[in-house]
Amino acid sequence: AEKMQTIKTDFLIIGCGIAGLSTALGASPYGEVIVISKDRPDLCNSTLAQGGIAAAVGKNDSPEEHTRDTLIAGVGICEEKTVEILTEEAPKVIDRLIELGTSFDRTKSGELALGREGAHSLARVIHRGDDTGAAIWETLFRKVQEQKVHFQTETRAEVLLVEEGHCYGVLVRNFEGVQRILARSVVLATGGIGEIYGRTTNSLLSTGEGLALAWKAGAVLSDLEFVQFHPTALATEENPLFLISEAVRGEGAVLVTEERERFMPSYHPRADLAPRDVVTRAIVSEQKKGHQIYLDASSLGHHFELRFPNIYAKIQSLGLDPRKDLLPITPAAHFSMGGIRTDSFGRTNIQGLYACGECANTGVHGANRLASNSLLEGLVFGKRVAQTLVESLKEKSLRTFDFPDQGIAQDAMTLDIPEVTKPLDINDPRVDTLQKLMWSSVGIIRDEPGLEKAYRELCQLEKEVSPSEGELQNMILVAKMITSSALNRMESRGSHYRLDYPEVDPAWQLKHLSLRRHSA
Ligand code: SIN
Repeated sequence: AEKMQTIKTDFLIIGCGIAGLSTALGASPYGEVIVISKDRPDLCNSTLAQGGIAAAVGKNDSPEEHTRDTLIAGVGICEEKTVEILTEEAPKVIDRLIELGTSFDRTKSGELALGREGAHSLARVIHRGDDTGAAIWETLFRKVQEQKVHFQTETRAEVLLVEEGHCYGVLVRNFEGVQRILARSVVLATGGIGEIYGRTTNSLLSTGEGLALAWKAGAVLSDLEFVQFHPTALATEENPLFLISEAVRGEGAVLVTEERERFMPSYHPRADLAPRDVVTRAIVSEQKKGHQIYLDASSLGHHFELRFPNIYAKIQSLGLDPRKDLLPITPAAHFSMGGIRTDSFGRTNIQGLYACGECANTGVHGANRLASNSLLEGLVFGKRVAQTLVESLKEKSLRTFDFPDQGIAQDAMTLDIPEVTKPLDINDPRVDTLQKLMWSSVGIIRDEPGLEKAYRELCQLEKEVSPSEGELQNMILVAKMITSSALNRMESRGSHYRLDYPEVDPAWQLKHLSLRRHSA
């Protein structure tokens, strides 16, 4: 342990999606920034985001309308004030991206082209083809590289170092071994949890690790029972599943059975563009009646290929032609509304520890995130965290700031850090067991017996994991927390649907279920 390498920096950011990069971009003029990523930096969920980014820039739109739609989709769980920040900042964030060089699709007259997605009262989604996330990510990554930000890739954060309620660094592991990075502030921007469910649109790295790290350090997590299932991933055996953007329905595609019968109009007045949780449950109901469910995009004709080139290429590679063939789809775990509880500046209950992007629970998504609000969240709150970090420098001038002395840092190292670790193998049978359990019992439709059984089996599974398998351990920990939250919320609301409590219960409005590690 004496040989452990120690690095000091001002700001340490864990995660390399657009939330982490926005933070890095905003903070780097004011201090030294290190960004770490578990694998290659581009292997994040941001680069997989297709549909776009919501912002009230249209003629008949306003941040107030955007707020209203966000609050309705969030079914009484959103923090209204934080949603207002999100929607008011949205047009500014778009302007800034354009300034930095992102080229969004435009109409013939040169205005930003606006797409339509579920639960939006009008077209509001700014996009670049069907790979908007990648377009934004590339812009930010290029910009961040021009500044003096240090990247440490293939580096996994293992333990947050916390002393007396103050986070002062992280133990990380990479091919050189374990390293200690001491930082004035640590930002978690670790993304989602989709891989806990197996059937997911999320990258293979989305195992919820940031949530586990934060919880172990004593941070409050909340709203974990709210997991969004996207209605339309392409039904294949791949992991991750390939998303067919909601924007495809926004352009006129409809869900049908094998008989080419539409069913959404009988479930919701907005039919195929109803809120995601409604569409997902409708698909499950139709599947239970024995139907196969498809997306019929034939009405788009040649436009499909032009507007959605990547989706078109993928579909073609399977030998299908969206102009005439039905596209087999399945719901898939897509987004975690809950996460590490923060205020609207990304501050957690631990001093010096911040969270932004999908791993954070700022309160903007409530029980169900509105389409295309997640890239937006990453950008808006990434920037706000950066501003807060810069403010915090004023409190502690560079020279007077003291890192905890060697003694304290040594204590932290006596936390169980195995000498060697086994990286997660996503094909491990125990991962498969976990994913099947979560999908079938803690997925789209839940009830008490199923949730209790899942919890017991997760506890059992935990015993089969050795201390050197930290990633798998963390995955199981997060799965247990989602399951216990789902068990404790005895109502149905947004993405959380309980067969045994099928109604929205007003008594649960604005109530958050929080989890926090009991201090020893
Ligand atoms: C999609 O393109 O359908 C996904 C958009 C989102 O998750 O907001």
